Amino acid sequence: MSEQHIKHPVRVIVNGVARSGHAESRMLLSDFIRHELGATGTHVGCEHGVCGACTVQIDGIATRSCLCLASQVDGCDLRTVEGLGRENGTLSILQQMFKKHHALQCGFCTAGILMSAVDFLGRFTDPTEEQVRDMLSGHLCRCTGYTPIVEAILDVARQLNTEKTETLHA
Ligand code: FES
Ligand code: FES
Repeated sequence: MSEQHIKHPVRVIVNGVARSGHAESRMLLSDFIRHELGATGTHVGCEHGVCGACTVQIDGIATRSCLCLASQVDGCDLRTVEGLGRENGTLSILQQMFKKHHALQCGFCTAGILMSAVDFLGRFTDPTEEQVRDMLSGHLCRCTGYTPIVEAILDVARQLNTEKTETLHA
């Protein structure tokens, strides 16, 4: 067997749970998450870093999983869209606001946008519309025209600033 087909163990924490799988050296993190871990909420669009659909968090930082190799995240803490809901099964404030503002239609882009939004709102607690749009410039959405997404994220920021106990993910 050639070196490139040898599978290496990869151990990660995914949404707070220890998981492991095997990956060839060239396997993309997006493929590892979907095919090896079975977490298909992370979507794959362009596979070359343009659309943002594959965005997950690696050690708390929003990252395009199609631009990482699975072997690079061994030992890391991953967050995917499956981990966004509350522990009691209800929607997080971010998910609720996307629903309220009709910020998704087909939903293909949504997982990636949500994962970027969590990172963004952790760093910009009182963002301007311009800052939200700047963050969204890293994501392609073919359906919504972006305005409902901007409104949803600004609404989350407003609510987090009045309701200090709410967290963005479980
Ligand atoms: S699939 Fe990763 S950025 Fe498009
Ligand atoms: S909701 Fe369809 S691509 Fe964004």
